[in-house]
Amino acid sequence: MTEQVLGGKIGLVFGVANKRSIAWAIAKAWAAAGARLIFNYQGERLKENVEELIGEFGEKTPLFPCDVSSDDEIKAFFESVRNETDHVDLMLHSLAYAPREALEGDFVSTTREAFRVAHDISAYSLVALAREAAPLMTNGGSIVAMTYYGSQKVVPHYNVMGVAKASLEASARYLAYEWVYVDVKALSRTRAVETQLRSR
Ligand SMILES: NC(=O)c1ccc[n+]([C@@H]2O[C@H](COP(=O)([O-])OP(=O)(O)OC[C@H]3O[C@@H](n4cnc5c(N)ncnc54)[C@H](O)[C@@H]3O)[C@@H](O)[C@H]2O)c1
Repeated sequence: MTEQVLGGKIGLVFGVANKRSIAWAIAKAWAAAGARLIFNYQGERLKENVEELIGEFGEKTPLFPCDVSSDDEIKAFFESVRNETDHVDLMLHSLAYAPREALEGDFVSTTREAFRVAHDISAYSLVALAREAAPLMTNGGSIVAMTYYGSQKVVPHYNVMGVAKASLEASARYLAYEWVYVDVKALSRTRAVETQLRSR
């Protein structure tokens, strides 16, 4: 049996579409380590599939819709989360999207719209979800997001997704910097300075 290192922890899982989703493998590992999980699904088309999968964790495993391109859906998702729990310890961001044609042609042909959508779904969503999750992480917390080598080096055809992953990584750095700061604000000045230095 897996050691219950996440016993008593509550995690939000964004990005399960099917049993091959990386988010599904991570969710199973988190659950095996003792975490209680709350899932999103993107649109009615995926609901049944995700519902069936997470049935493995018990009938009452919470599942709420959240298309991350919609501020209203993000708000509603976290409202539902707050009805389930007063705190959260973990959040998994395992989602990305770019229009197919932007991953087939030359990078130089990327349209303004494909660039916008890829960054909105694949990078900005981390900021939007983190903003909602942070106030619930009252005992501290961890956020995990998924990137790829194509953010640092050219991988043929990864195109705009590589640029969006670079943005995702930079967003994670800025969030981490601010949160160390936010986190230590309540502590003494000396401790705050020490913590900030340690984090860089
Ligand atoms: N598969 C790989 O080889 C690989 C490699 C490196 C990184 N990644 C990253 O891992 C993450 C998960 O990918 P995966 O391979 O499991 O694919 P997947 O298709 O199973 O997961 C992608 C998820 O993104 C969700 N999604 C897309 N648009 C959304 C939206 N508007 N709102 C809410 N959810 C939305 C989909 O519903 C799906 O659940 C992605 O960030 C991907 O870039 C994947």
